[in-house]
Amino acid sequence: MPETVLHVNGRREALTLDPETPLLWVLRDTLGLVGTKFGCGGGFCGACTVHVDGVATRACAILLATVAGRPVVTIEGLAHPVQRAWAELDVAQCGYCQAGQLMTAAALLARTPAPTDDGAAPTCEFARPCAAILAAASGALADHADAASSVDSANSVDSAEVAG
Ligand code: FES
Repeated sequence: MPETVLHVNGRREALTLDPETPLLWVLRDTLGLVGTKFGCGGGFCGACTVHVDGVATRACAILLATVAGRPVVTIEGLAHPVQRAWAELDVAQCGYCQAGQLMTAAALLARTPAPTDDGAAPTCEFARPCAAILAAASGALADHADAASSVDSANSVDSAEVAG
């Protein structure tokens, strides 16, 4: 089996695996990065979203060979203001897919630093994620030191839950 080099969360990983292995299984089963979740397995639900070259990418639908040598970031490697917004606005419901939601939100904000609310967010089922994305984009969270310290505590718990 050929060796494939991955760069995951800033670490170089040399892997001897079938190059046709979906990235999701490489992350979870080989590298132990279980924060990236399996949902539909078909590229539809987004639970497995990671960043490849900074772009939100379904890890279940991309092969190891395709990401060789390219930077991959998982929820374990994400450090973004939207995570604080997620905790402060209590976005998580069951939490299963929140890693994928956070990765998608961070990629959105990288592409669109100042998103706007089209008016649908307050009534749609995604009102809290939308509000958290707008809060992270506005930078409003950084102005509240008291809230930030309590959110930091919450984030350490959330990170452990997400990684599980
Ligand atoms: S597990 Fe649903 S998109 Fe990958």
